[in-house]
Amino acid sequence: MQVPFYGHVKQYENIKDEIDANIKRVLMSGKYVQGPMLTEFEEQAKEYFGSKYAIGVGNGTDAIWLSLMALGIGAGDEVITHANTFFATAEAAWIAGAKVILVDSDPKTKCIDPTKLEAAITDKTKAIIPVHLYGQCADMPAIWDIAEKHNLLVIEDNAQGIDGAGANFKQGERSAAVTTSYIIQKNLGCFGDGGMVFTDREDLNSTIRRLRNHGSDKRDKHSYGFNSRLDDLQAGVLSAKMKQITKLTDRRIELAMRYNEGLKDAKAINLPYATPGYRHVYHLYVIETKDASKRDELLKYLNDNGVDAKTHYSVAIHQQEGFPWGKEVEIRGSLENAEKNAATCVSLPMFPELTEEEIDYVAEQVLAWDAKQNG
Ligand SMILES: Cc1ncc(COP(=O)(O)O)c(C=O)c1O
Repeated sequence: MQVPFYGHVKQYENIKDEIDANIKRVLMSGKYVQGPMLTEFEEQAKEYFGSKYAIGVGNGTDAIWLSLMALGIGAGDEVITHANTFFATAEAAWIAGAKVILVDSDPKTKCIDPTKLEAAITDKTKAIIPVHLYGQCADMPAIWDIAEKHNLLVIEDNAQGIDGAGANFKQGERSAAVTTSYIIQKNLGCFGDGGMVFTDREDLNSTIRRLRNHGSDKRDKHSYGFNSRLDDLQAGVLSAKMKQITKLTDRRIELAMRYNEGLKDAKAINLPYATPGYRHVYHLYVIETKDASKRDELLKYLNDNGVDAKTHYSVAIHQQEGFPWGKEVEIRGSLENAEKNAATCVSLPMFPELTEEEIDYVAEQVLAWDAKQNG
């Protein structure tokens, strides 16, 4: 059996009628940039998310740095995030001109470790960007408490966590903004690139709208800005898919539970940790080898046996050689958990269109490898 990592075409086939209808509607409207479909999707998205504003932008990276810029954060400021996120989180803070401060992650949740934050805060610190990594919310109440104590802004990078929630908190409840990516492989993905900022702040809403459109909110009037708009065609695709998001997430959770059950007796791996009471949306189902020296072997075994397993992310941010270390990016404290995560992670196929048979086949392959580890 071959088990792919993504099911983009299957998902399109399942939602085809509504997606096609929306695409046709956009095409026939003749308005493809900042047209009525974008407005319609933004209205739908803010209702769904429960924020006052939702601003469609070009991608999830832009959503972060446009938020930082709209908040006045840039050169001379420090922004804290964690070292085992996708590169774009740190990159976005760097694009905004801020110094990127990397702290460690929690060994269980893999999200930013709130207990590492205070030691990393200086008088230059302006914001914290927690990431809802793999689909599980970071410990937001602890992060918000620290941010409020030190007068810092919080931007949640929710590229991997759309439709997720905490045990007794909602995403964005005490944050300046929540950003997301709509790139195709995300839990809510368009047919290309897209992103969004959710916020309750009117000033952020109006500034980001201007920034995304060459600094213009009125014909022929411009201040500084960029080009980062969510296309109407992509908005149409997202609008159709957003109506299904709860169902799609529930299916991911169901499949994750099936993996958990199938893999519960494995000895050489740890299963993903889900914080009790949280809605973990399993953007990724990431297991880890207990022995870091065995990770590549497991990955190869799965790949050789038809399972398109991957790593997220085998090189932590501070291990990226291309980043401008020193002046613009700095490590505060040990990053041992991030390094361990990079060395041991293996992502198993996870998307709502997977079948039970495919999940069981993947679990069997992991167990076959696991059995060999135990003699
Ligand atoms: C955690 C995280 N942040 C930011 C991004 C950036 O999003 P985009 O690729 O849409 O710029 C991604 C995904 O790509 C991501 O996974």
